[in-house]
Amino acid sequence: MSVATVVEQILDREHVYPFMQSAVQRNIDVSHNVLLYLEGISVSFDGFKAINDLNLYINDGELRCIIGPNGAGKTTMMDIITGKTTPDCGSAWFGQSINLLALDEPAIAQAGIGRKFQKPTVFEFLTVLENLELSMEGDRGLLSIIGGKLSGEQRDHLHRVLEMIGLVEQRALRAGSLSHGQKQWLEIGMLLMQRPRLLLVDEPVAGMTHQEMDRTAELLISLAGEHSVVVVEHDMDFVRNLAGKNRTVTVLHQGSVLAEGTMEQVQNNRKVVEVYLGE
Ligand SMILES: Nc1ncnc2c1ncn2[C@@H]1O[C@H](COP(=O)(O)OP(=O)(O)OP(=O)(O)O)[C@@H](O)[C@H]1O
Ligand SMILES: [Mg+2]
Repeated sequence: MSVATVVEQILDREHVYPFMQSAVQRNIDVSHNVLLYLEGISVSFDGFKAINDLNLYINDGELRCIIGPNGAGKTTMMDIITGKTTPDCGSAWFGQSINLLALDEPAIAQAGIGRKFQKPTVFEFLTVLENLELSMEGDRGLLSIIGGKLSGEQRDHLHRVLEMIGLVEQRALRAGSLSHGQKQWLEIGMLLMQRPRLLLVDEPVAGMTHQEMDRTAELLISLAGEHSVVVVEHDMDFVRNLAGKNRTVTVLHQGSVLAEGTMEQVQNNRKVVEVYLGE
């Protein structure tokens, strides 16, 4: 495959790659321990309010699970955070000082927000290692594909990510030969190469085996602390596993927060039970 074809296929993707981004200084002020603020956000599509006065706060290093019925606005919320959709009103801040609504998609990615889309977007014809190299922060990614050399620090980061996603042994295999679960982990690894501060993960375990789901929960839990992680998922066993006893679960319904608390609290919340029974 020629370099031109590779480049063409890359540019065709929804994903924002680091080499497409302009240099923006990363300076995230989390002095109040909050990494993401969404306040009074609303957005309508043809008169339908997909997001309705949404308020959501994600702490620095937190792993937050977001649940809610189909059409609740979960994906739209991620579209707003990443700059894909502009809200009609409200505010969105990354730390104390970065106004997300003033930035475009590439600038938001560059500021440190990574997103994993529902459908896997790994490059099947490249190896696991090449996929990770391509996603490396700075301008090395594309260069490495056409034979550029990585620095020692970049190599260390690459190996750390390979270990975290559990694909050390598969590193020389083409991504196309991986299992569905492994492809999803590779894609999470590709995001990690860009050292995001906030990771948005939309329905990561759809189509996975139980074993793959458990491994995915472990991986996402291991990312919290160093990163904040927001996970949208319908599979309740998986959410229970992720949330454990103490993490916060947010229930979205009709574009706003219906309930928030531990898994036990939201499961016993009358409004939440009604919404799920009414599905
Ligand atoms: N670009 C758009 N144009 C028109 N309507 C849209 C658009 N994006 C989302 N919607 C509508 O907004 C509502 C919320 O959709 P969204 O995809 O955010 O829900 P969701 O909570 O992610 O649902 P699911 O669990 O099924 O993924 C839906 O009714 C959807 O049809
Ligand atoms: Mg969705």
